[in-house]
Amino acid sequence: MKNTTAMADYELRHIEALRKDLAGCTVLLKKDGSFPLEKPCTLAAYGSGVRRTIRGGTGSGEVNSRYIVTIEEGLQQAGFTLTGMEWLTGYEQAREKAHKAFLKQLKKDAKAAKQNFILYGMGKVMPEPEYDLPLNAEGDAAIYVVSRISGEGNDRTPLKGDIRLTDSEVRDILALDKKFTRFMLVLNVGGVVDLSPVMSVRNILLLSQLGVETGGALADILLGKANPSGKLTTTWAAFEEYPEMPDFEDMNETRYREGIYVGYRYFDTFRKKALFPFGYGLSYTEFRLGTAGVEANGAQVTVRTTVENTGTMAGRQVVQVYLSKPAGKLDAPRQELCAFAKTRTLAPGEAETVTCSFTLPEMAAYDAETASYILEAGDHLVRVGVSSAETVPAAVLHLGKTVTTLQAKNVLGSTDFTDLTAPAAAMERPEGVPVIEIDPASIVCETIDYARTEEILPEVDALTKEDAALLLIGDFDPNAKGLASMIGTAGRHVCGAAGESCSTVKGIPWLIMADGPAGLRLAKEYYEDGKGKHAVGNASMPDSIMEMLSGPMKLVMSLMGGNGKPKAGCEIKTQYCTAIPIGTALAQSFDTDFVQRCGGIVGEEMEHFGVHLWLAPALNIHRSIRCGRNFEYYSEDPLVSGKMAAAMTRGVQAHKGCGTTIKHYAANNKEYNRTRNNSMVSERAMREIYLKGFGICVRESQPKAVMTSYNLLNGTHTAESRELVMDILRAEFGYQGIVMTDWVTPMTGDARSVHRDSQAQYVAAAGGDLFMPGSKGDYDNLLQGIDSGAVTLEQVKINASRVVKMARALTQE
Ligand code: BGC
Repeated sequence: MKNTTAMADYELRHIEALRKDLAGCTVLLKKDGSFPLEKPCTLAAYGSGVRRTIRGGTGSGEVNSRYIVTIEEGLQQAGFTLTGMEWLTGYEQAREKAHKAFLKQLKKDAKAAKQNFILYGMGKVMPEPEYDLPLNAEGDAAIYVVSRISGEGNDRTPLKGDIRLTDSEVRDILALDKKFTRFMLVLNVGGVVDLSPVMSVRNILLLSQLGVETGGALADILLGKANPSGKLTTTWAAFEEYPEMPDFEDMNETRYREGIYVGYRYFDTFRKKALFPFGYGLSYTEFRLGTAGVEANGAQVTVRTTVENTGTMAGRQVVQVYLSKPAGKLDAPRQELCAFAKTRTLAPGEAETVTCSFTLPEMAAYDAETASYILEAGDHLVRVGVSSAETVPAAVLHLGKTVTTLQAKNVLGSTDFTDLTAPAAAMERPEGVPVIEIDPASIVCETIDYARTEEILPEVDALTKEDAALLLIGDFDPNAKGLASMIGTAGRHVCGAAGESCSTVKGIPWLIMADGPAGLRLAKEYYEDGKGKHAVGNASMPDSIMEMLSGPMKLVMSLMGGNGKPKAGCEIKTQYCTAIPIGTALAQSFDTDFVQRCGGIVGEEMEHFGVHLWLAPALNIHRSIRCGRNFEYYSEDPLVSGKMAAAMTRGVQAHKGCGTTIKHYAANNKEYNRTRNNSMVSERAMREIYLKGFGICVRESQPKAVMTSYNLLNGTHTAESRELVMDILRAEFGYQGIVMTDWVTPMTGDARSVHRDSQAQYVAAAGGDLFMPGSKGDYDNLLQGIDSGAVTLEQVKINASRVVKMARALTQE
């Protein structure tokens, strides 16, 4: 609960700045005109999310904000009188009982799998329990808040209570929709819930998880003080409509058989039925789109569309431009998003002309046979609309001849299956739209210089092998062994940061890294003694982990995050950071200026607390709605992902000494056994879907760091892939920053898997600069690797030079 008097100026400013834009991240899925409410009234409030409001997911992405405004609190603060409180008490009791049984079962399962309970349980979600509680509260209106949570370490399940609604939820939601003239189903969720049983409900709001002010934002929307203007960045459908992924639960291999047909590319091409399509979202007001004007200058295409607010409330609309490419040598999805723009807030009757631009080469397909990006001869149809299901043809761009836009090389290995392909569908030229001739000569083929000379700084060259190697390993305690040598979240310099680079080589500065993406993750409260900085109690442990523990284990974990108990009289320092909306909600805004402002909030807090690298944004693709970390990620579409990550990076990097770390590079699209799971993906799908967003972000914003993913790609750890790191990231995308691993620790992998964890010597050989979080074992591996020839000392010094340059740049900026 908030107590503003104790709050620092930056906290108040950041929360206020966020609040006014939060409705822009929410998606109105259904409406019957009975909302907004005229004034605060008596409201019957049901559902788990009223009191247990979720601000974001669990794990490293969980931000330790000072407080969160729950929906119950937000509505009360806005003047509502809430009824249904007995229901909430009854729900708490049912949940408590179910949670005890869940933990008991989890412990049994962990034992059977011979795994550490915490790691086994990390991110495992208790499905919502069933309950039978009377719905007897009265009110002028009613809401039912469905909430779902997930997090790193495990995936979501298609069970009732997770992706599916429980029988109790369906029964109560339908009953309330019948009983109350004004009823809103509110979804306080981080990912897709199968809404098929409740599609008859008249008003549905995807509130999402909006950080600190989640409850306040709902109050603003219910009262019409703010108007939802978000659009879905992922297709919402019944679970069985998504592509089948039979090996999603395989601990070793995951075959991406659907190839490029991810999300709406699959639904639209294969005529599958979505409940709510990609790009969809209503508003309290109505909009009319004028005929789009399309112009081409060489291969640069500009689409101008006038949007008019024809309703009675101020609001914002998102114009989306899609391209349908001709199928030729390569098959093509029915359409692909190529640009979008959001209007400013338009008053009723007001209009604005928005401009969307893209270049044709950005939309080229990858032909693995010739290892090149190509645009095939034929009609490229530009469609404009307000969702992937509501687009109208705006122009035909005719290309007389097939052109190669970039000559690359195939570097990502092969799969043991062929990708799903779409049957060739003849594209009819629509009548009444302009045909624009694109001159093939205006598209120049880009070539890549894969051979690079890397620099070794003289001061690094002068270092001993031992010191040069230290610079490649996250800071560790050389006098301790194994796990105990890891510093990790204990942090030497900033308490609760996720890690630091080496701080013990004389004269060389170090980098401090802290998590995201839903804000800056630090220990809320800490104290110092002669031995360092320590989190107070469990102030640096995610609540989700503490919740799994009881008595003695709780104590052990809080010891790991600090030593918990400051001596009497010891000064307690605070590091309260602002929880911003989860990645998916940010992207739903389709508002890159807003996302950049969020980056500004994070950057200011990083500067304030002395953090150099934010371990975010995360831009993996929503390949399956089951991925436990989708909430951290933006979209099923690479353009949306790349644009959002670039905007966030611009916001953070406008601050002195601050950089982003875009992650997880790449094809980390499920959590189960994530450190040892092999994603098998075709070169084409990698380049058109999974790598594309990283390319956009790097080209547009040059993030200071990239984090490789835990998984393997076609048999090679991404962190150990010189092809991913040097050929694609550095040579093709033009990346100039440092590359670090995800947090590999001796505890992370499941011993039953056929693949091993990545190792420091191979990571270094691939051009990976930092092995994180770093332990004595990793350092020893690297030294032995130099001696055995697994990695050359020259390569170690090249990587070390990049680390030193970045550390100098960020500490002296
Ligand atoms: C996560 C990363 C995170 C890192 C540091 C890992 O478990 O996968 O996203 O940045 O931990 O906390």
